[in-house]
Formats: sequence, C-alpha cells, structure tokens
Amino acid sequence: MLRSQRALSNCGCSVHPETPWKGMNGVYWLEQTEADVPVEDSWLSAGEAVLLNGLRFAKRRADWRVGRWTAKRALMMYLEVLGRPQTIADIEIRAGSSGAPEVFFSDKPAGVRISLSHCAGAAICAVAPSHVAVGCDLELIERRSEAFLADYLTTQEQALVIQTSWADRPRLSTLIWSAKESALKALGVGLRLDTRCVEVSFQVPWKESGGGDRRFDNAAFGSPPAYGPNRWCPLQVCYIKNQVFSGWWQYMGNFLRTLVAAPPPPLPTLLQSSDVLAHSKYVESKF
Ligand SMILES: CC(C)(COP(=O)(O)OP(=O)(O)OC[C@H]1O[C@@H](n2cnc3c(N)ncnc32)[C@H](O)[C@@H]1OP(=O)(O)O)[C@@H](O)C(=O)NCCC(=O)NCCS
Repeated sequence: MLRSQRALSNCGCSVHPETPWKGMNGVYWLEQTEADVPVEDSWLSAGEAVLLNGLRFAKRRADWRVGRWTAKRALMMYLEVLGRPQTIADIEIRAGSSGAPEVFFSDKPAGVRISLSHCAGAAICAVAPSHVAVGCDLELIERRSEAFLADYLTTQEQALVIQTSWADRPRLSTLIWSAKESALKALGVGLRLDTRCVEVSFQVPWKESGGGDRRFDNAAFGSPPAYGPNRWCPLQVCYIKNQVFSGWWQYMGNFLRTLVAAPPPPLPTLLQSSDVLAHSKYVESKF
C-alpha cells in the first residue's frame, strides 16, 4: 500500500488496497478545460470556497477553479477514492508558504506530491508519490522577443534557439521556457530563482534545412507516436547545484507541456477513469 493510501486509510476513507497500474517513481497527469468544470462550487472545500471568494480578478478566479478542478479529478483517480459524492470536496489543495500546492484529505496531509499549471482556459496537473519532486507546465506556443531570450535563457540555450529556423523558434523557445518553469516548480521555488540557474537540454529530432539552419523534423511527431503514448519526448534540466531533473515534453496544437521529476520518471501516464474503474470495486456516483 502506498504511503498516501495509508494516510488516507487513517482518515477512514474508501481507498482501494491495490494499485496494479502504478509504479514506484511513476508520474501521472491529467488535463482539463474550463468547459469540464461544474458551474456550481459544491466540489470545493469550505476553506477553498472562502479563498475563491477572496480572489478579485475574474481571470485569476477562472484559472484557480480550473486548476483546482483538474487537481481534484487527478487525485481522485490517483488515490482511487471513489464512490462518495463528498470525496471531491474532502480533497483540498492548499498553497504552501512558497505558493507550491500541498494536498490534504479530510484536513490531513495526503502524502502525495502534485504540480499545477493553467493556461488559456486549460490546466494540467501532475501527480507523484511523496518522495518524487515533480513539476509541470502548460504553455501556449508563441514567439518570444530577443530581450526575453537574453534575459531568461542561458547562453547555451540562446545559441540553440539562434541555430533553429525562424519558423521553429516559437516552439523551441516555449519548450525551453516551459521546462525551466517545470524545474523551478519541482524545486518548490518558482520564479524567485534566476531562470538561468536551470539549463534545459534535450534531443530534438532535427532535420538540416540548408544554410546552416536546423528545423524540427515534424514527421517524427506524426503517427505512430515517436516515443510512446502521447508522443512525449525526453528532456533534462540541470540545476546549478548539480541537481538533475529528467522529464518529458510534448505539444499538440498550440499547447506545449513539460513535466520533470527527480528521481527520473518513466513516461508519464495519463489518468483515465477507465484505469481506475477497471481495478476498483467502487463506482463513481456523482462525477
Ligand atoms: C510558480 C510560477 C513560476 C508559476 O507561474 P505561471 O506561469 O504564472 O503559472 P502556472 O499556471 O504555470 O503555475 C501556477 C501554479 O504554480 C504553482 N506554484 C506557485 N508557486 C509555486 C512554487 N513555489 N513551487 C511550485 N509550484 C508553485 C501553483 O499551484 C500555481 O497555481 P495556483 O496558484 O492556482 O495554485 C510563479 O507563479 C512563481 O514563481 N511563483 C512564486 C514566486 C512569486 O510569487 N513571485 C512573484 C512573481 S515573480
């Protein structure tokens, strides 16, 4: 039984005793959009409802709601706590002193790590066992200014962008930026640290396009998936103090996702109700 499940068992919740679809260092993820979020707020805990009411700006409220909804849905599947309508409100995601999300279940630490990101009406949540430092990020692929690249990327990262064709630069610079954000979240500090303290490296499927330019080999991202389910590609982020995060990136449409962890995670697994239901004697009654 996972430590998180033991913690939950102590709360007297319905937790499935076996987790045949989970690995020790496995990282799991779920993405939701604002359209998935219930209009009413009964799925929030009392504390979360108070916090939501205190958020002044509509965009922040919307981001916060889709982030919390995504996290709660992911946790219900990861922790296999099903069958009680109240369960989703019993899961509470609180912000720690650094802003990092911390998971509580019925007011007790749930013994599980998560990372959250919201962007353009969507949110992603990564879930991992408590001994895994995990960070994830969701970004819109867009062109970044030269000043942005000079301010936030290391010399080596800037060189990589400059060697890349003009058309591919938005995707590459978004990937580097997103991987940095993921690593800074896994470190639990966010943008308090200089983003040049973390350096991103990866093997892009390059294609020489003549004139010294390199282009992404888009065919490598076509079907069938190049690297496994959901077309995740490997990357690494090295922190200045020799701490290395391993992870994955992928893009679909205009969205790019990164997910990093230490110890190195296997390919991220998409959380799906069917995985849970296949192994659970409980039935989701409300959501
Ligand atoms: C973490 C951070 C890099 C994310 O920035 P972002 O691109 O705007 O937002 P994302 O949607 O990708 O991620 C936001 C989520 O990151 C998480 N997060 C915030 N601070 C975090 C930290 N120190 N460590 C890990 N995760 C953190 C939160 O879950 C947050 O969502 P929530 O507030 O709705 O719970 C940034 O908010 C940050 O650095 N925050 C801490 C420092 C700070 O507040 N600085 C002021 C701005 S420089």
